[in-house]
Amino acid sequence: MNNRTLAILKPDCVRKNLIGEVVKIISEAGFKIKAMKMTRLTKDSAGGFYEIHKERPFFVDLVAYMTSGPCVPIALEKENAVAEFRKLIGATDPSKAEEGTIRKLFAESIEQNIVHGSDSDENAAIEISHFFSRKELLENYIK
Ligand code: CMP
Repeated sequence: MNNRTLAILKPDCVRKNLIGEVVKIISEAGFKIKAMKMTRLTKDSAGGFYEIHKERPFFVDLVAYMTSGPCVPIALEKENAVAEFRKLIGATDPSKAEEGTIRKLFAESIEQNIVHGSDSDENAAIEISHFFSRKELLENYIK
């Protein structure tokens, strides 16, 4: 399915009290919220989510950051959702992100970059199922 992506409002977004502002930008860009929750990742859960980065030098810090406080995973729906959402959030490194993107507006560093967006349709499906059951996705369905 190519119309879904997973966003995570990361712990720095929550700490800075930016949940409302970022959700407003996402909604105004035409994404529909299919499911949303606030949760705190454990080391195992964050390590599993970022398994593909396991060998990278920043992995230990990334897991520490992602478990440092609550985060807000959101399953989003829009045509061409993965690419559209990545355009909205901007480059991983906020200093390289385009003006007006969420990371350019709010992020402080390549690690503490406010928001996650899936990088492919295949990963979007895996990542959405990391946080949401089928029941949660169906019950929260908004047409
Ligand atoms: P995200 O889009 O969630 O995917 C992987 C995350 O790892 C990324 O956002 C950043 O939070 C972090 N990350 C990626 N590259 C680096 C890097 N070079 N140094 C530190 N953290 C990074």
